[in-house]
Amino acid sequence: MAKSYTAIAQLKTAERFREHIASLGIKLDFEEDLQSGDDSPLAQPYTLKTGRKIGNRFSILPMEGWDGTLDGKPSEHTIRRWKHFGQSGAKLIWGGEAVAVRHDGRANRNQLLINDANLSGFETLRDTLMQAHTESFGSTDDLLIGLQLTHSGRFSRPDPDKLLKPSILYHHPPVEAIYNTDPDLPVMTDDEIDELIEEYVRAARQAYELGFEFVDLKHCHGYLGHEFLSAYSRPGKYGGSFENRTRFLRELVTKIRAAVPDLMMGVRVSIIDYPPYREGEDGISRPITYRDENGEYPFAFGGNSDKADEIDLTEPNAFLELLRTLDIELVNITVGSPYYNPHVTRPAMFPPSDGYAPPEDPLVGVARHVNTVAQLKANFPDLAIVGSGYSYLQDWLPYVAQHTVRSGMVDFVGLGRMVLTYPEMPADVLQGNKLQRKRICRTFSDCTTGPRNGMISGCFPLDDYYKALPEADAVKAVKQSIKS
Ligand SMILES: Cc1cc2nc3c(=O)[nH]c(=O)nc-3n(C[C@H](O)[C@H](O)[C@H](O)COP(=O)(O)O)c2cc1C
Repeated sequence: MAKSYTAIAQLKTAERFREHIASLGIKLDFEEDLQSGDDSPLAQPYTLKTGRKIGNRFSILPMEGWDGTLDGKPSEHTIRRWKHFGQSGAKLIWGGEAVAVRHDGRANRNQLLINDANLSGFETLRDTLMQAHTESFGSTDDLLIGLQLTHSGRFSRPDPDKLLKPSILYHHPPVEAIYNTDPDLPVMTDDEIDELIEEYVRAARQAYELGFEFVDLKHCHGYLGHEFLSAYSRPGKYGGSFENRTRFLRELVTKIRAAVPDLMMGVRVSIIDYPPYREGEDGISRPITYRDENGEYPFAFGGNSDKADEIDLTEPNAFLELLRTLDIELVNITVGSPYYNPHVTRPAMFPPSDGYAPPEDPLVGVARHVNTVAQLKANFPDLAIVGSGYSYLQDWLPYVAQHTVRSGMVDFVGLGRMVLTYPEMPADVLQGNKLQRKRICRTFSDCTTGPRNGMISGCFPLDDYYKALPEADAVKAVKQSIKS
């Protein structure tokens, strides 16, 4: 039988929330009184080394909607989402959403694609966000907007046929078993990687010309950038040693800086990784037990190759040190992959349709995010670090956020799923408005179940706009068919 967990909505007092945290044996601190106005820790500006000021400590995480056109332009759903990013009140817009630098690297047939033909679509997205922000908050002077650049690697599904068309750096048998990847599929050659780097440089220049102040060189969630970090078994200049596994990043930074010197760069990184999880016949989810011929699990960057679900921060620390030496100040920390261990990346009460019953109280997952970031922040006080994975905190999100920012455990609190249901949460917190409980994300995971079944993403249970779309019934039907 799958375990059941106490719903956050039931933990209505600080005392109950604290007792529940204690019962889980985790460290997750929060403040009991929310501060608003200029004195709030979350309202404090952050000044980057360049002198660029970011107006407060809320960040909107990249959130794609699987809702672009087949040729990679934004649709009205995409524009609405970016408008909400602007209305949120958050002053750091981390990437908007994943944007493929090349067609073959699109994670789905509706992912945005940056190329000559699509530039005006990106202009519309940025303008819409800026205008919405100006209308709500008067000025965009302290608003920083970046664009997330990506290639989806082994999770590329670029075409209308919806088929997985993986570009891989090395063979990863346990993940390939789940996704039926051909064990003889050739890996990308070094020359192909070098060509791809040129596409990133072109995309970065285009982003800069469109007015984006930074690009995120995405290194997370199992996509190509992240896969480099665990390419231990790959021969040649992009695999094996730490130096080789980070060559892609170093090349990107050097070449983009040479081409567009005034463009800032940031990196969103899955700083730790885990093996895939599967649900057993007993309803309990566990990590798979794959071992190579040396008895190791050799695929988890930031993991322990002997003990598959333990963390080892040696290489993550080296990675942040590398970012520091590359003069990259903007760092966004996430964990794991939503494909093979969604409970790690996005703690949720209800799994997506391709997921499994949560193997731990989702608050344990939130604490893993928060405490891992705090450890790294302590080692790298001069990096501007965004934390992820806060949405499961629901009503308690601002209370934990106020604590983590005040105590220097993180610089910016990133909002992912929460921005789909309740984009104005940051504005309400900062202005001292009562939180709108009915709009708080309850982590139903419909925003993932939709796309996993070929549909757009959105909050079908709580957002009236999505409730009224035919996809809302289709997502319900998918969930019903899983239950029965
Ligand atoms: C529907 C959906 C779309 C997402 N799109 C992206 C994306 O485009 N790029 C990215 O780096 N992460 C993406 N993520 C991950 C989120 O940015 C975030 O890391 C995750 O949801 C955990 O944060 P949260 O607890 O605030 O939701 C997405 C997550 C969801 C649920």
